[in-house]
Order: sequence, then C-alpha cells, then structure tokens
Amino acid sequence: MKTRVRAVDVDHPEPEIIEEAAAILSQGGLVAFATETVYGLGADATNAEAVGRIFEAKGRPSFNPLIVHVEGVAHARTFTAAWTESAQRLADRFWPGPLTLIVPKTPAIPAIVTAGGPSVGLRVPAPKVARALIARVDAPLAAPSANRSNRISPTCAEHVLADLDGRIDLILDSGPTTVGLESTVLDLTSAPARILRPGPIGWHDLAPSFKKGDLAGPTSPEARPPDRPSSPGMLAVHYAPRTRALRVESVRDVLDVAWPERAGVLAFERLDRDRLPEHVVVIEHPDPIGAAQNLYASLHSLDAQGLDLIVVAMPPPGGVWDAVRDRLRRATTPLEA
Ligand code: TXA
Ligand code: MG
Repeated sequence: MKTRVRAVDVDHPEPEIIEEAAAILSQGGLVAFATETVYGLGADATNAEAVGRIFEAKGRPSFNPLIVHVEGVAHARTFTAAWTESAQRLADRFWPGPLTLIVPKTPAIPAIVTAGGPSVGLRVPAPKVARALIARVDAPLAAPSANRSNRISPTCAEHVLADLDGRIDLILDSGPTTVGLESTVLDLTSAPARILRPGPIGWHDLAPSFKKGDLAGPTSPEARPPDRPSSPGMLAVHYAPRTRALRVESVRDVLDVAWPERAGVLAFERLDRDRLPEHVVVIEHPDPIGAAQNLYASLHSLDAQGLDLIVVAMPPPGGVWDAVRDRLRRATTPLEA
C-alpha cells in the first residue's frame, strides 16, 4: 500500500482535502490525523472491518480497546445508554479537549472497538481538521495513537510516516500537536469513577464535577502494581524507544551513571553540564507544559541518534508532572534493575 501525505491548513482545513480523507474513511480505509494530544490513526468506528485494519497496521493486540472520537456531546450520547449528570458536567467543562470518558456502549459500536467489552471510550477532539473530518464522514472515528504498538506516540506527521509508511492510506499533516500527551482516560462505569490513564487533565480538575466520594483518589497511579494494568492497554512497558533507556529519580543521580561512548540525557530541570562527559547529548524541559508538548519528539530524536544509552532524570511527582512521569515510567527501566 502506498501511504500518501497531504499538508492541510490547521486553521482553515481545505475542503477538498477533508473530502478526500473522508472518502477513504467511508470506504473502510485508514487516515492518520492530528488531535490536540497526539496523531490518531482513524477508521470509521461503525465499520468492524475498517477497525480491524487499525489493529493490523499497528500490530496492536486485540484485547486493547480503541477510543472513539465524536463531534460533540449530542453525538457522544447516541453511543451510550447511560449518560450521567457527572458525564454531562465533564463534557460541558472539558470537551472539546483531552479527556476520554468510558461509558456503557450501544450496539452501534462494534465489539472489536471495545475489545469485546461493554464500555466505550468517547472523546471530542479540539482541532478543526479532526472535527471537520468526523463531520464529513458523518461517523464516529476510532483512533488510537498513530504508532506501531508499544512504540513512542507521534506528535507530528513525520513520526507517523516513520512508523506506519506503507501500512495506511493517508496522513493529514497539520503540523505538530499542541498538548503532546495522550488524553486522560476516566472510567465512569465504576463506582466511584476512576482515572485509568493520567493525562493533561488531572484529578483536581475533574473532582469539582463529582459529588464528594464519587471520584476515586487522588491516589498515585504509581501505587498500582505494574502487573495489574488499570486499563487493558496500560501495560507496564509501553511507549518505548528502541535504544536502551534507563531512568533515575533526580538530576543528581545522573552524575553516577557509567556513560558509554554514545549516550543522551533527558532532564526536567537544568543540568550541571560541566559535571557530565562532553559527548553526552542533553535535552532539558524545565517547564511542565513544554515538557508535555515536546516529550515524545525528544524521545524520538534521542532514539534516532544511534545512541547506546538514554538516561531519563525523572521530574518530581505531583500536578502536571504526574502524566509525564507515567509515560516515562513506561518508556524506561530503573537504573538499579
Ligand atoms: O489522546 C488520546 O487519547 C489519543 C488521541 C489519538 O485521541 N489516543 C490514544 O489512544 O492515546 P490509544 O489507543 O493509544 O490509548 C487508548 C487508551 C488505552 O490505554 C486503552 O486501553 C484505553 O485508552 N481504553 C480505550 N477504550 C477503553 C475502554 N472501553 N475501557 C477501558 N479502557 C479503554
Ligand atoms: Mg497509544
């Protein structure tokens, strides 16, 4: 299969390009497009065969359910029979945006989308390109991150092409994504509701939409044993670079590393470079918003440099850093291990 890449204007998506992408999706094809978080690999969520192609292209295990992208709250409600007051408050407050709500599904969503389960993850993406595409196809779009399974998530079209060239029909290139980390996944089918995947919207943002005690936590996702995934797709090792990648708990520990000839460091505060061997490549993201935006691009870039080792100095826990820490823990192994 030949994968085409088409540039599309992020503010004024060209109607003929949206039309072309929509035609591919309507015929059961695969189109990668940007959301505010990462690029998604889209298929018509109501077409089981098309959704099957997503699993094939990504090499994704069939037990890992897909998020379904809808146009707005009214559209979301057509795919669930149980829309609670909390769901409505959350949707009013955070949609469009990086929040996925897990709710009971209707038969319109085929079993393959939810890995055979009774619930579906729904979200409304913010970018105009994504919204225009959903509207033009006139169907919800199942879209996991547009990377091969267990690889780093893509935040620009080049990342998608590098991973999926020849496996999908089209990539809509609307430039780098703005948020950079995958959506917060919130399970509304359990009582209390609980966060399955930490993300750009944290516990403290979500809590006001619930009556006291109706939202579990805030417990650190790190407290959960790694062999007990919170969500079917939340395996302990995920989002990993190909290069050996270790983590240390602070920038001070970086100084103890036995550096091989070719190595890189990813840090979240300023590093004392004078105390590192000169050949070590250093990337620093001291601000959490910028860190989230650039995390995957930085991992992609370090991974592309043919290094023998990447060392990640973890940011401190708490607040916005928790989602960054979550992704980094899946991308690395502890130095001691
Ligand atoms: O920001 C995002 O969420 C991006 C963009 C493209 O929307 N999508 C994304 O999809 O990250 P994916 O497939 O890479 O991750 C989806 C996560 C997985 O951990 C999956 O297990 C969980 O959401 N999930 C999806 N549907 C679910 C369901 N019905 N029940 C429980 N977990 C679900
Ligand atoms: Mg993913």
